[in-house]
Amino acid sequence: MTGERPTAETVSSILGDRELVVASNRQPYSHEYEDEEIVVNRPAGGLTSALDPVVQSAGGTWVAWASGDADGEVTDDDGRVGVPPENPAYDLRRVSLSDEQVDGYYYGYSNQVLWPICHIDPSKMNARADFWQHYRDANRKFADAIADEANGESVVWLQDYHLALVPRMVRETRPDVFCMQFWHITWPSRDAFQTCPQYRQLLDGLLANDLIGFHTDQYCQNFLDCAAMLPDARVDRATRSVVYDGRRTFVRSFPLGIDATQRRQLAISSADNEFWHEFKDEHDLGDTLALGIERLDYTKGIPERLAALEHLWETRPEWQGELTYVQKASESRSQIPEYQALQDFVESEIQRLNERFGTDNWTPVVYLNEYLPKDGLATLYREADLGIVSPRRDGMNLVAKEFVASQVDDPGVLLLSELTGAAEELGDEAILVHPHDTPGFADAIESALSLPEPERSRRMNDLERLVHSNDVYAWMNAQFRTVKAIQRGRDVAAKSVKRQ
Ligand code: G6P
Repeated sequence: MTGERPTAETVSSILGDRELVVASNRQPYSHEYEDEEIVVNRPAGGLTSALDPVVQSAGGTWVAWASGDADGEVTDDDGRVGVPPENPAYDLRRVSLSDEQVDGYYYGYSNQVLWPICHIDPSKMNARADFWQHYRDANRKFADAIADEANGESVVWLQDYHLALVPRMVRETRPDVFCMQFWHITWPSRDAFQTCPQYRQLLDGLLANDLIGFHTDQYCQNFLDCAAMLPDARVDRATRSVVYDGRRTFVRSFPLGIDATQRRQLAISSADNEFWHEFKDEHDLGDTLALGIERLDYTKGIPERLAALEHLWETRPEWQGELTYVQKASESRSQIPEYQALQDFVESEIQRLNERFGTDNWTPVVYLNEYLPKDGLATLYREADLGIVSPRRDGMNLVAKEFVASQVDDPGVLLLSELTGAAEELGDEAILVHPHDTPGFADAIESALSLPEPERSRRMNDLERLVHSNDVYAWMNAQFRTVKAIQRGRDVAAKSVKRQ
């Protein structure tokens, strides 16, 4: 069974007359200069591209940071542009931020305070006072734009950790909107969250939502534990909600999925293509292929994975000449020194491994950091014998799901870190690893590669079923259904108060 994409009818049957306003840091379309021409770029995959068709069919507005250098050229005086450009179906409302604000709000507070804390790595936190100031200012700009676009009864759907203060700010001018937020990364334990100097203000902001969604039940529990730190908050474990400042905020898990059908079709159409032939000609691959695909982020555990591979080649030399590991990496947040240092380290480690073990006709690690076309990526997923997804910490991890959906014939095996949200869903049929247990990780690679065919197929069939039934559309529908249930509950409560 596959989740159905919510149609305009489904969304409007749930929203009624209420209008939808989506807000996220990243925008679904950006306008950029290319050779003095303005071109439109769309994100290659991920959440924005999955949400875009839904907002297109439901109508409404999407509020996001104007990150493109030509964004301002195409918007009206209020920062609005109709999208998709060729056939506008909804308004994209762009929020302009100065370079200093982007440094403080995005590179600073979002990615050097909230990101490390939520990934339980507080030693990487850089709690500069000006970062917080910029985060507040940028959240205010988002909130003002949302309040401008919303009417009293709109449903405001906020995405992620960049916008934690927005719900409270929106309520100042639009007290009656239905406000919901999905937190796309881990929500840590209370002890870890408390290391953030502004933990009270963040909770105060988030508890102006009517509904907060996380990937797993554990993150919901962690959030409830954190909310209990606020003296004025009453945590109701039975209904998984928090009463604070005269409002009840429901806390629910909605595991995010991918567009699995589309991913499978892409894998089917990428069989035996030109990319694959060129790739094989260009690199000295072994007969067995392992694959890792990620942004260059320290949470993804790339150095730890390389250490496990080194241990394998060192202690079991029969895998030398046989197993090639392909690392597809994309540069990310490079203005942050920690990310720059990681990029340099990964490159030098790969070079070291290739010098240590490589031969004239075998490359141990193939490193791809250039742009890959969609079908190239799909081919790698499809052809890999082993998908290695081994973050030190990850809220969900969609690469694991993309790998599964791409196994259209001769299925590979998924090796998955137990420290991911995805392990809750896929952990029974994937081979679980602990990213810091180097010898155990190396053993797991070997046993995964030694699984007999029927066992591989059985595991992959079960994984496919899970990935297809919990896809991105099931994720959206579950949230819209929850909105409806909360509204129904409130209507009933309001009627019974009237009767008394
Ligand atoms: C995480 C966040 C997303 C974000 C993505 C890419 O997965 O949850 O919101 O879009 O990282 O990061 P970037 O900083 O490039 O938006």
